[in-house]
Amino acid sequence: MRAVTWHGRADVRVDTVPDPTIQDPTDVVVEVTSSGICGSDLHLIEVMAPFMTVGDVMGHEPMGVVREVGPEVTAVKPGDRVVVPFNISCGTCWMCSQGLQSQCETTQNREQGFGASLFGYTKLYGQVPGGQAEYLRVPFGNTLPIKVPDGLPDDRFVYLSDVLPTAWQAVQYAATPPGGTLLVLGLGPIGDMCTRIAHHLGIEDVYASDVVPERLARAAARGTHVIRSTDKDDVVQQIQDATAGRGADAVIDAVGMEAHGSPLASIAQKATAVVPDAVMEKVMQVVGVDRLAAFNTAIDAVRRGGTISLSGVYGGATDPVPLMRMFDKQIQLRMGQANVWRWVPDILPILTEGDPLGVDDFATHHVPLEQAPQAYADFREKRDGAVKVLLRP
Ligand SMILES: NC(=O)c1ccc[n+]([C@@H]2O[C@H](COP(=O)([O-])OP(=O)(O)OC[C@H]3O[C@@H](n4cnc5c(N)ncnc54)[C@H](O)[C@@H]3O)[C@@H](O)[C@H]2O)c1
Ligand SMILES: [Zn+2]
Ligand SMILES: [Zn+2]
Repeated sequence: MRAVTWHGRADVRVDTVPDPTIQDPTDVVVEVTSSGICGSDLHLIEVMAPFMTVGDVMGHEPMGVVREVGPEVTAVKPGDRVVVPFNISCGTCWMCSQGLQSQCETTQNREQGFGASLFGYTKLYGQVPGGQAEYLRVPFGNTLPIKVPDGLPDDRFVYLSDVLPTAWQAVQYAATPPGGTLLVLGLGPIGDMCTRIAHHLGIEDVYASDVVPERLARAAARGTHVIRSTDKDDVVQQIQDATAGRGADAVIDAVGMEAHGSPLASIAQKATAVVPDAVMEKVMQVVGVDRLAAFNTAIDAVRRGGTISLSGVYGGATDPVPLMRMFDKQIQLRMGQANVWRWVPDILPILTEGDPLGVDDFATHHVPLEQAPQAYADFREKRDGAVKVLLRP
């Protein structure tokens, strides 16, 4: 089959790789019909490169049609339409039963000291072949795939794999009080969806910061107050002006470590490009990469006693965090990979009843799998209006 594979920094290609097969009796094989490119994929082709291996199949936002099922699979059958969550979770362990699927005890990567495996991710998360491919092997066929109805386009459901539960969790973790103000940092797919969900859940005062014109325009069109800057002082000033000097009740960081404005980012970026992977891998596991610009903005922009909800992914092991300031401001901090299945029962009915979140025209680009390298480059460089790209294998 054809699949998007990792070859090095900013280098993904479409290669022919072996077709996936049923390996365990509860596996299913899904023929992928749509597959998103995510901001997290940008970390893999840059900062997290030391943890990738040439030939790794990328992608963790797939949906498609079940083609094959193992002998013990009863929950789905060939022909069923399914979305595949990005976390690989068993659905039955203690963590899964707590709604903490990204900490699944069956797939936790204990040797690496990391949480549940993820599709199309680094060796820290199991190095499981991903879904930017024609076919995908999905374990836990009785509990992991999300069955979705026929009759509506893929775009209605595909974001259940990641964007929707991630943004939903971010908004829930932010816990904006009634009548309160929410600030979302970053208007990529995740930040944009956070603003939509916030409005849907009745949060009136939603602010968002970014500098990419088409991203700001999308958010403004749906009633978000946009801050056309990612400079910390600017953003903090504008949010304080809007909140009697207090700051936002809640801040969502939907940026993570690709933030622009991190003083050491370009040095770290250059270091990951020239230092051999084996060395950089150790460096990142024991040191930091200090690309915390957005997180530092969140700390200054949140009011005293407010909440920061971190959905952006950070990569260094010991990045410096201003703990004294956080303690003094009494900041509440919640974070983590989204627990996809935790939120599916809340989100799915919203998708089948109508389209209040605007998912039908959320994607800016639909491209054939073969054009993935160009699509990655456009998304990374924010060229050609690329906000969300769906590959069509
Ligand atoms: N927690 C999870 O489960 C989960 C799931 C999916 C994605 N993510 C993470 O969420 C983040 C966003 O993903 P995405 O797909 O929207 O990515 P993206 O790269 O398209 O979006 C990031 C946006 O942030 C903006 N930005 C950069 N620096 C900024 C700053 N200092 N202040 C404000 N905005 C800034 C960029 O212009 C860009 O529009 C990534 O870190 C990704 O890894 C987390
Ligand atoms: Zn994703
Ligand atoms: Zn589990």
